[in-house]
Amino acid sequence: MNDSINNINNMVTNDITNFDNYEMITQFSEEAFHDFKNILATISGLTQLTMLKAQSEETKLYLSRIKRATSDFTEALNNYYDFTTGLNNNKKGIHVLSETVDEAISMVKHKFSDSDIINNRLVLNLNIQSKSKVYGYKYKLIQCFLNILTNAIDSMDKAEGILTVKVFNDSSNVFVNVVIIDTGSGISVENLERLFKERFTTKSNGTGLGLKIAKNCVEGHGGSLSITSKINEGTKVHILLPIYND
Ligand SMILES: Nc1ncnc2c1ncn2[C@@H]1O[C@H](COP(=O)(O)OP(=O)(O)OP(=O)(O)O)[C@@H](O)[C@H]1O
Ligand SMILES: [Mg+2]
Repeated sequence: MNDSINNINNMVTNDITNFDNYEMITQFSEEAFHDFKNILATISGLTQLTMLKAQSEETKLYLSRIKRATSDFTEALNNYYDFTTGLNNNKKGIHVLSETVDEAISMVKHKFSDSDIINNRLVLNLNIQSKSKVYGYKYKLIQCFLNILTNAIDSMDKAEGILTVKVFNDSSNVFVNVVIIDTGSGISVENLERLFKERFTTKSNGTGLGLKIAKNCVEGHGGSLSITSKINEGTKVHILLPIYND
């Protein structure tokens, strides 16, 4: 697996915008997922064994949470795996946009948890009111939504926060709207102007490409992407995509 990681590192360092080599990414994913799943199976198995021997209710509760976290992690891994495999089959087609949004959400769902888990207070508020179809590259759109969701989650990193995702049609049924709202750090007026003009990032490991890729992708599908934000209040990303009528 180390060789695969080195290959991926070299590929990314040589040309960060070159995402053509999906074959190598898929190969890396297969090896990495295999290793991760084995490790998770060990953690899960030993946790269950320990649960049988645990005396106190408190210890049993914590162990059940570890077990649940390992199943969430396994599910997230499966979703990422499906996603990277899907990149190889990226063809244009007709799909229900809310389901595509949902697939992107499922990749980050493990970041949200029930309100009973003390250390994680990120809440997901999902409001889907459209079953309309769009025509286009499903996996590119998933990547686009994933970029926006990741930004929203990053912005609420250490605080309590609510991520709201709404999918609905406009009144004339021409466009489907996807609105992603976070209650995170927000973006200053000055930075809002820079978002699409240059490789702008405020993250130590950011490429500053996520939003540009998302905007290009949406516009390539005949839609639009706009952002409004208020510092310390949060950010709203509004995407419009044309509805496909059969
Ligand atoms: N929802 C958000 N809340 C606060 N700031 C945001 C949000 N979305 C984007 N930003 C700001 O815009 C910058 C650019 O975002 P973009 O997604 O293009 O790149 P990035 O997240 O920095 O890096 P990456 O290439 O890993 O996505 C971010 O670094 C951040 O400062
Ligand atoms: Mg980003």
